[in-house]
Amino acid sequence: MADHVYIQDIASHVGKEITLKGWLADKTDKGKLQFLRVRDGTGFIQAVVFAKDVSPDALETAKKLTQESSLIVTGVPRAEPRAPGGFELSVKDLQAIQIANDYPITPKEHGVEFLMEHRHLWLRSPRQHAILRIRARVVKAIRDYFDNNGYIIVDTPILTPAAVEGTTTLFETDYFGTPAYLTQSGQLYNEANIMAFGKVYCFGPTFRAEKSKTRRHLTEFWMVEPEWAYGTLDDYMRVGEEFVSYIVQTILKERATELQVLERDPSKLQNITPPFPKISYTEAVEILHQKGFPDFQWGDDFGAPHEAVISESFDKPVFVHHYPTEMKAFYMERDANDPKVCLSADLLAPEGYGEIIGGGQRSADLAYLESQIAKHKLPRAAYEWYLDLRKYGTVPHCGFGLGVERTVAWVCKLDHVRETIPYPRMLEKIYP
Ligand code: 4AD
Ligand code: MG
Repeated sequence: MADHVYIQDIASHVGKEITLKGWLADKTDKGKLQFLRVRDGTGFIQAVVFAKDVSPDALETAKKLTQESSLIVTGVPRAEPRAPGGFELSVKDLQAIQIANDYPITPKEHGVEFLMEHRHLWLRSPRQHAILRIRARVVKAIRDYFDNNGYIIVDTPILTPAAVEGTTTLFETDYFGTPAYLTQSGQLYNEANIMAFGKVYCFGPTFRAEKSKTRRHLTEFWMVEPEWAYGTLDDYMRVGEEFVSYIVQTILKERATELQVLERDPSKLQNITPPFPKISYTEAVEILHQKGFPDFQWGDDFGAPHEAVISESFDKPVFVHHYPTEMKAFYMERDANDPKVCLSADLLAPEGYGEIIGGGQRSADLAYLESQIAKHKLPRAAYEWYLDLRKYGTVPHCGFGLGVERTVAWVCKLDHVRETIPYPRMLEKIYP
């Protein structure tokens, strides 16, 4: 049998006989001509079976193939500018491994509910395949960026004794008789780790018991969180804009085919380069007052419609900084000149995608953090180790968290984050 080749490598095998191992995505039956759309996990290609080029048995096999039947096909790839992907396979021989019966996801339109119940199969479709290949490349870009810029990955635990981002979205579990929580963020451990390693990041699944059904909330999502010693709010925004630009430019360069499958207009991403616009929370409230929300109160949190209006005023992601101290988590450093606001910033993505990064400068002050822990009614005992960091060589420091799924949703221009993660976990959704 000719060498087994993956579709993604087909360009270097033009004119040579090769074997593909995969599945039938789709078929057009023209009798003596069978057009098979074959996929092998790395891509899709049209394989043309012509009666005069194959044995009668092989032609019969081609006719019997149903959607998602598994198959091995031998043939010669040739350039075909009109074919998606740019190549076609002239088939010489063909073998069915299994004939699939009644594959539930047919080329007709299905409702999202149905597709979500069949997520384990839906992953095979071209759109889902393209989205998850982009996700994988985003994940690699994230790792490359931090690994290449002097950050060391220091993993943080998933089972934890305390909350990071408030107590209302904690998933509680029983840890041998005491309550434990699935982590909402690795940040507090990052803050310990920077005092040992200087610049660190953690990257893993994080959990929020979000009881709301929105297009941007998952209960399990992946977050990358860099943190560094002696960093300020301004440092964070500089790193954040460089980092996000690196992700977007990498996807434009390395996942152009997938963006095309998704019909994503690349011109909307090409201008994502530093610097990003930066406005204060107070300036953002003024924009809201001018653009349809005259009654928005200073001190209120932005909802999705507010974030959309703010971000639509810019063609790049925009940092909103100096949020009201009362609105943000207990650890945020206050502005020394105006303690009503804190040294925090969120990054809002364009095209209405809303917040993709949250972060800021952390309080370095032991007494203030003790008072904040009391004020937020957090159990002090679970935070003693965190307070130690302010007793032994405390320094100004900053960091942020970027949500992978919201970033992928924006880059791909998707309606909902549920398609950006292989097996989404949401309110009332844990199957498959
Ligand atoms: O703004 P958040 O809650 O910030 C933190 O957790 C900080 N401790 C991070 C840090 O400074 N180290 O979350 C950060 C990002 C959000 O901007 C968003 O992209 C994503 O995580 N995120 C979610 N993504 C999907 N579903 C959810 N329920 C999300 N909650 C937050
Ligand atoms: Mg946030």
